[in-house]
Amino acid sequence: MVKAIVGANWGDEGKGKITDLFAREADVVIRFQGGANAGHTIINDYGKFALHTLPSGVFYPEVTNIIGNGVALDIRKLHAELTELVSRGVPQPRLLVSERCQVMMPYHPLLDTYEEERLSDKAFGSTKSGIGPFYSDKYAKIGFQVCELFDDDLLRERLDKVCTLKNTMIVHLYHKPALDPEALYREMAEQRELIRPYVADTFTFLRKTLEQGKTVLLEGQLGTMKDPDFGIYPMVTSSHTVAAFGCIGAGIPPTELKEIVAVTKAYSSAVGGGEFVSELFGDEAEELRRRGGDKGEYGATTGRPRRVGWFDAVATRYGCRMQGATGVVLTCLDVLGYLDEIRVCTGYEIDGEVTREFPVSCKLGRAKPVYTTLPGWKCDIRGITDPDKIPQQAKDYVAFLEKEIGVPILMYSTGPRREEIIRTR
Ligand code: GDP
Ligand code: IMO
Ligand code: MG
Repeated sequence: MVKAIVGANWGDEGKGKITDLFAREADVVIRFQGGANAGHTIINDYGKFALHTLPSGVFYPEVTNIIGNGVALDIRKLHAELTELVSRGVPQPRLLVSERCQVMMPYHPLLDTYEEERLSDKAFGSTKSGIGPFYSDKYAKIGFQVCELFDDDLLRERLDKVCTLKNTMIVHLYHKPALDPEALYREMAEQRELIRPYVADTFTFLRKTLEQGKTVLLEGQLGTMKDPDFGIYPMVTSSHTVAAFGCIGAGIPPTELKEIVAVTKAYSSAVGGGEFVSELFGDEAEELRRRGGDKGEYGATTGRPRRVGWFDAVATRYGCRMQGATGVVLTCLDVLGYLDEIRVCTGYEIDGEVTREFPVSCKLGRAKPVYTTLPGWKCDIRGITDPDKIPQQAKDYVAFLEKEIGVPILMYSTGPRREEIIRTR
């Protein structure tokens, strides 16, 4: 049985915490898209971790963690993450890397950084991890699959060709030092040794796993609003963030995907550029940012302050529908305990008309939020796991969001730690 855990919004909804929690009852956890642009925070008995490439099942030694073919694999970052985990007392995780997975080449983060610099105040606000250039190359058919690193002749020949192409831009557009194919070859020959023990035919492994009736989790990166087709294009990422892509990026038949859990926060947060209709500014934003997440709303990968706002029911309903959510997990409910009143964006006013449907990006800039105001609960519920100790106003807030989203809220979370969660069903 395959279950996906995905983001309903702009990313950073708390997918890491929820995957870590669900992984206890899983046999396999797979990352199927994105790369080290992810920052999935997990706080458990081993301490606090921000996972960038490793799937969030790595804290359970009996779980097999897979980097699927859809991922942008930065081998050095993966290696550094594994080393850190083990040095902090986590048992060496079971890890498999798909032989079809493509490799983040050293020039991808460079090109990402150069282009963001060139765009200056028009930059996308990318994480500069190379994601855009990586996926462009994959679909332009000049990427490198992991298995290809082990074929010396092919590697040298392809590197020569790629350097000719890339150097045109690097030297003439960005005015930066040219790539040297020989140095790149040496670097990739080192990188392949770091990855060699993990490379596997994950497609066959998964087929057998599913035949045995085991449970597989797909762990999404980012959320619906950052999907290149369904999100706030062009301020999106470069791989599909919707659960449907999980089948492609992990290599499993779509008929196997039975449950889709969309994660959403009790308020909104976003990193990078793009429209954000229910965004808060000034002191109100500063206070929510300071109180949000585990130690404030700051990017787990880039450390940038996250933009914050009220819960956006228009975006989240759409976000959950596009994911095909069968259930929702609401995180960070505890954060809102300081507010007298809480606003929820329940409609967008565009050109004088109110809509509840999430519009295309070019109309989104004209959308103004229509709010419904609910009473706050004015107390600290952090860490509470007994539903009877949750104030009625907080329960009403959850019920209101559930009605707005139109998908059952299966659990809500009252703190960043693994066990700080309340099941509603
Ligand atoms: P992800 O990218 O979706 O895995 O989410 P991030 O880890 O980037 O961001 C979520 C932030 O919220 C992290 O700082 C988490 O530790 C924190 N978090 C998750 N659930 C809760 C919760 O219920 N309450 C609080 N206060 N923080 C939470
Ligand atoms: P998780 O998995 C929040 C944002 C960047 C930028 C856009 C594209 O932790 O939810 P990219 O580097 O992918 O080309 O940047 O997406 N972004 C994230 N925002 N959480 C993330 O990951 C993000 N990964 C990328 O800020 O707006
Ligand atoms: Mg994150």
